[in-house]
Amino acid sequence: MKAALCREFGGPEKITVEDIPEPKAGPGEAVVRVGAAALNFFDTLVIRDKYQHKPAMPFSPGAEVAGTIDSVGEGVSGLETGQRVIAYLRFNGCREKVVAAADSLIPIPEGVSDEIACGVTITYGTAFHGLKDRGRLEAGQSVAILGASGGAGLAALEIAKRLGARVIACASSADKLAVCADHGADEGINYAAEDLKARLRELTGGTGADVIYDCVGGDYAEPAFRSIAWEGRYLVVGFAAGKIPKMPLNLPLLKSADIAGVFWGAWAEREPNQNRANIEQVLAWCAAGELTPHIHGVYPLGDIVEALSVIDNRQAKGKVVVKP
Ligand SMILES: NC(=O)c1ccc[n+]([C@@H]2O[C@H](COP(=O)([O-])OP(=O)(O)OC[C@H]3O[C@@H](n4cnc5c(N)ncnc54)[C@H](OP(=O)(O)O)[C@@H]3O)[C@@H](O)[C@H]2O)c1
Repeated sequence: MKAALCREFGGPEKITVEDIPEPKAGPGEAVVRVGAAALNFFDTLVIRDKYQHKPAMPFSPGAEVAGTIDSVGEGVSGLETGQRVIAYLRFNGCREKVVAAADSLIPIPEGVSDEIACGVTITYGTAFHGLKDRGRLEAGQSVAILGASGGAGLAALEIAKRLGARVIACASSADKLAVCADHGADEGINYAAEDLKARLRELTGGTGADVIYDCVGGDYAEPAFRSIAWEGRYLVVGFAAGKIPKMPLNLPLLKSADIAGVFWGAWAEREPNQNRANIEQVLAWCAAGELTPHIHGVYPLGDIVEALSVIDNRQAKGKVVVKP
């Protein structure tokens, strides 16, 4: 079978597509024929050995997939060959077949395509956990999202809208903000051209956003935090800008505000049932047409270098999908 492989750390151009042996399902496992795999920002870090997960070489990028069950191992019940499921793998997703723990698989509801289903686990899981558990977001409150048109940002936008919040999307260009508006953003700020702190205050009537969902870090974090509401919650989600911001600690004191870390993967390992319920809810919203994940592009496996480069070059809007 074909697999995209990282044999040597480096940029997307180092990834090759090769033939490898098919996997077999061990006890408690299932083999899934991959219909679509989603890429995430961290894939561009893992292939450079700049991420906390360090898979053994060679490995495939891609941590989340959708497809059909090809075979099941000993002791597996409740799953059938041909059944459509999603799987969270951490890595090795961009290949024709993958093996996963059978009890971690989540069925895909009728009417949701593989291209949509493959990308709901990580970014939507993070958004749901982050906004609900760490951000204590309530209907009617305001959320500012930094990096709002990226995979994590757009997912947060859509979940925040489902939770009844008013969303201020913050991104670096008019076309990125247009995608955010299409997905329900109430307001937009182009932080490459406008004063982020002043505009956040202006758009919240001077009170500041109740929750800030920061996927970017770098130089935007402090001006955003300086605009936060009294008892606001600043969610540390990612550092796509590459620089980890440092925050003067008088700022949370002055606003009685919280700075809360969001680490979806570690939380999902500790709370698998809650995470599963969140992902099932996201899939149900997709099936009902109440949530419409944005797909930047769908790339054949042979174009894996191009697919990873879109994320690497800060161009991705929503999810980047690979079809083995
Ligand atoms: N904590 C968690 O559990 C968790 C879960 C998922 C993702 N994340 C993290 O969230 C961040 C975003 O992930 P993603 O999948 O949304 O990535 P993405 O689709 O590539 O989006 C990242 C966004 O960050 C902004 N950005 C600013 N400076 C950038 C730079 N120098 N290079 C690239 N992007 C830059 C871009 O928007 P503008 O051009 O509009 O600025 C871009 O849309 C990553 O750091 C990722 O690791 C964390």
